Amino acid sequence: MAKKKMIHDFIRMKADGEKITFLTSYDYPTAQFAEAAGLDMLLVGDSLGMCVYGYSSTVPVVMDQCIWHAEAVRRGAPNTFVVGDMPFMSYQSSLDKAVENAGRFLKEAGCDCIKLEGGVRITPQIKAIVEAGILVMGHIGLTPQSSGQLGGHKAQGRTVEAAKLVVEDALAVQEAGAQMLLVEAVPPEVAEYITRRLAIPVLSIGAGPDCDGQLLIVSDMIGQFQAFTPKFVKKYANVAEVVTDAMKDYVSEVRAGTFPRDEHCYHMLEGEKDKFDSEFE
Ligand code: KIV
Repeated sequence: MAKKKMIHDFIRMKADGEKITFLTSYDYPTAQFAEAAGLDMLLVGDSLGMCVYGYSSTVPVVMDQCIWHAEAVRRGAPNTFVVGDMPFMSYQSSLDKAVENAGRFLKEAGCDCIKLEGGVRITPQIKAIVEAGILVMGHIGLTPQSSGQLGGHKAQGRTVEAAKLVVEDALAVQEAGAQMLLVEAVPPEVAEYITRRLAIPVLSIGAGPDCDGQLLIVSDMIGQFQAFTPKFVKKYANVAEVVTDAMKDYVSEVRAGTFPRDEHCYHMLEGEKDKFDSEFE
């Protein structure tokens, strides 16, 4: 079993140009698969609201849901670095609330790090959480919790003016003390500059190949999430088709009486059938 990677490993990987592999996970079995596949890092993203609960956005997700899912992921992947994602309104309204909720991910779910969305405007929260002794991953570019303000789930930083804002956010997050940064849906040209400029590891989700590592949402990359597929996703499997086909086969076999067969039954112990028949005839 590979040794669990920690923040100093990710800093070294950045220095050596070794890519960091990062995937979301929301449950115990998927976390087991991810650890067996050798992922470096797992994110218990608030995308669980859409991928697991069927909400139309991440906004309704609450802390308790994130803690329960993070706990399950921790159990499934005890030797993988796990990042807990702070849901909407778990950190925006006060610094105390931000620190308290960040701490819950470590104390109750055994996470290694927390992630929160926002750049310049969220630096007081980043500082406060870091000062409490908690590793922080920033998240800039397309930030789904504030997609209303961004005009929808749209790529960010596509003009020079917009790119300057993304770069300012990146620098502010590092300056506030975050140990890693996730950049979402930003042109590769801009993400490459940020990766080169920052000392901390920079992870990409839809920000091109030049970042220090890549994140995808597991439900997208295994072909489980059906509502929409962002441009940056590559589907490595079609789980929806595999599972639906299996369920269709089950339905038809039950209806046809071909399932269960004798090998799926627990027969009575030797000699018990005759006694049963004489008692219950
Ligand atoms: O919740 C999540 O999975 C995320 C990704 C979209 C980056 O924050």
